Amino acid sequence: MTKRKINIAIDGHSSAGKSTMAKALAKELNFVYVDTGAMYRAAALFCIKERLVESNEIDSKKIDQAVDRMYIGFKYNPKTEQPEVHLGGVNVEQEIRSMEVAKKVSLVAAIPRIRHKLVELQQRIAENGGVIMDGRDIGTVVMPKAELKFFITADAKVRAERRVAQLRVTNTDIQFDDVLNNLVERDRIDSSRAVSPLRQADDAVVLDNSQLTPEEQFEFLLSHARKAMASE
Ligand code: DC
Repeated sequence: MTKRKINIAIDGHSSAGKSTMAKALAKELNFVYVDTGAMYRAAALFCIKERLVESNEIDSKKIDQAVDRMYIGFKYNPKTEQPEVHLGGVNVEQEIRSMEVAKKVSLVAAIPRIRHKLVELQQRIAENGGVIMDGRDIGTVVMPKAELKFFITADAKVRAERRVAQLRVTNTDIQFDDVLNNLVERDRIDSSRAVSPLRQADDAVVLDNSQLTPEEQFEFLLSHARKAMASE
């Protein structure tokens, strides 16, 4: 019988580089990468398309009814060598990265019925181990028994600068202040919501990457992962 692989949880603030690191680690260790932020973004896109979040108000009763029609999942794309998020069978990996979705996602992610549905799905994906999952509540709620947990953060201005550079590749109109305000606001909503707020798990390894190069960060995470795998 082959040994069960460990699970790795990566939580932290918006745009702290969690997914870049998680993808690189998954590739190096041959684990499955699960981007739970993409799932909440797909849920936000669903709510936008269904006109359930017209203003900053949400109609939670209508959303409760609509959630049964919300099909979110991943399909592996051999070209990018990554799982990509699908909504109702349609690949929405690009569409969910828009500012429109970014502005609504924290509101949608605070809805208990939506969290319940997505957490269930995330736990099913992680059942057999070998998963690196990134998000906000992975080490605390989704995989409280994960063998290794990271909490990644960085100075808000550094995070905004990195995000602007990423977004400007496809959209030259992106404003620094817009991005900074959006991520500070998302951190605030994500940390203060009633259901599964963003919180560092007591047993998480904390990494502030404000002053680190991607290579330095990767080495730090990889050395912890190798140690955790060896001790299983
Ligand atoms: O990681 P991201 O920025 O793509 O996540 C988008 C939003 O989804 C983020 O503002 C908070 C929410 N989220 C969450 O509430 N729980 C998770 N496990 C992952 C993301």
